[in-house]
Amino acid sequence: MVFAKYLLPVLAATQVAFAAKCGDTKISSQSDADGIASCSTVKGDITVSSDFSGELSLASIEKVEGDLTVNNVTQMTSFTADSISEITGTFKLASLTTLSNLNFAKLSSVGSLEFSVLPALESLSFDTGITKAGDVYIADTKLGSLDGITLDTVGAFDIENNRYLKTVNVNNLKNATGDITFAANYDSLQIELPNLGTGKNLTCRNISSISVPSLKTLSGTLGFYGTDFKTFIAPNLTSTGDLVFMNNKQLSNISMAALTKVNGGFQISRNDKLQEIDLPKLQKVTGAIDFSGTFNTVEFGSLEEVAGGFNLQSTDGKFNCDTFDKMRGDVIRGTYKCVAKEDNPTTSSGKSGTSSSSSGSSSSSTSSGAAVANGASVGAAGVAAFFYAIAQLV
Ligand SMILES: *[C@@H]1O[C@H](CO)[C@@H](O)[C@H](O)[C@H]1NC(C)=O
Ligand SMILES: *[C@@H]1O[C@H](CO)[C@@H](O)[C@H](O)[C@H]1NC(C)=O
Ligand SMILES: *[C@@H]1O[C@H](CO)[C@@H](O)[C@H](O)[C@H]1NC(C)=O
Ligand SMILES: *[C@@H]1O[C@H](CO)[C@@H](O)[C@H](O)[C@H]1NC(C)=O
Ligand SMILES: *[C@@H]1O[C@H](CO)[C@@H](O)[C@H](O)[C@H]1NC(C)=O
Ligand SMILES: *[C@@H]1O[C@H](CO)[C@@H](O)[C@H](O)[C@H]1NC(C)=O
Repeated sequence: MVFAKYLLPVLAATQVAFAAKCGDTKISSQSDADGIASCSTVKGDITVSSDFSGELSLASIEKVEGDLTVNNVTQMTSFTADSISEITGTFKLASLTTLSNLNFAKLSSVGSLEFSVLPALESLSFDTGITKAGDVYIADTKLGSLDGITLDTVGAFDIENNRYLKTVNVNNLKNATGDITFAANYDSLQIELPNLGTGKNLTCRNISSISVPSLKTLSGTLGFYGTDFKTFIAPNLTSTGDLVFMNNKQLSNISMAALTKVNGGFQISRNDKLQEIDLPKLQKVTGAIDFSGTFNTVEFGSLEEVAGGFNLQSTDGKFNCDTFDKMRGDVIRGTYKCVAKEDNPTTSSGKSGTSSSSSGSSSSSTSSGAAVANGASVGAAGVAAFFYAIAQLV
């Protein structure tokens, strides 16, 4: 009798404790991790506490229905999970200054991924590869490539301040449902998005090449700032939101043979080697056209409507404004200015259109209220966070 009376509650308590072990879990040591090794699914969040030190292995767990968070665990050197294939919440690794091995051999799906300040992490050992992700944010790592991130679908894709990142090839990505941003990575970063067909914003700063042969439509901004490529070719692109080429020092040729519509403003400025702007099919720009710089050829074979203003100023003097003068009123509805030979060409807001000319400010021009609402500055993610990466460069 006494037995039964005490045994039952003890059993119940054990069961509760067992069940809780497959729920929210805080890991301070490898034995805490071993305590959930019998759970094939963890229904809750797994958090590694900042006093953890050394190598962590999460064995046997196949699915995490929650977040996996490792934040400010500066003594963690290695993190392995041999069986996890899915994390439904956020997979967050932040401020892990000595983490050099990250091995998730089966991981293929994450709710979202946030990796930041991982200055010792040179590669991802994601053998299966992450094919499905909501938003992906990777900043301030030592990664040389994103091998292991083989996305078929993604929401926002934001890759910033990875100073060793040389190539990004997201071969299978066809449709990005959020914004794609590359900023302040290794400056000879080469980006290949061979199958990307649609997206929202695509913004690139400080890259050396981009290949988007399949890109067809963007509902948001297409913007290139401070890049190093010579030619921009988007053969299949038919429509975008705002379109911006600014401060691209090597750019000599912009070719968008199929572009018919810009749903916003179109700005080209401070691209000092630019010669040819070839837009044979462009019919409609719902904002303003604002081109200033060195170019000698502007081909608008099909222009029917520019709803905003028109500003064309070049140092070259070879093209003729007559063609555009005739478009005033009928095709070009807003304010109009065309100067074929202008030593100090300016944007419609008066900023210098070349980096060498003396007029305007010498800092990068932002044309507020002009053709385009200019994008945000590089990596708002926080200067402090970049300390590690910079420290390693020095
Ligand atoms: C990081 O963890 C250390 C202890 O390991 C703690 O002293 C420090 O306050 C933590 N920093 C942040 C930003 O949480
Ligand atoms: C891209 O994905 C979004 C969201 O799933 C969908 O609404 C849209 O139709 C897709 N676009 C294309 C071209 O597949
Ligand atoms: C470009 O568009 C054409 C016509 O829609 C299509 O046949 C071709 O496959 C596209 N090219 C690429 C590289 O996607
Ligand atoms: C996307 O572009 C729009 C302007 O077209 C801008 O307002 C928005 O902030 C951009 N989003 C990001 C993340 O840059
Ligand atoms: C990145 O490009 C911007 C122009 O958009 C330029 O001002 C900046 O110096 C570049 N940064 C690096 C690290 O190259
Ligand atoms: C610009 O690029 C297009 C597409 O590749 C090409 O047809 C054209 O000849 C190039 N123009 C110059 C001046 O390089």
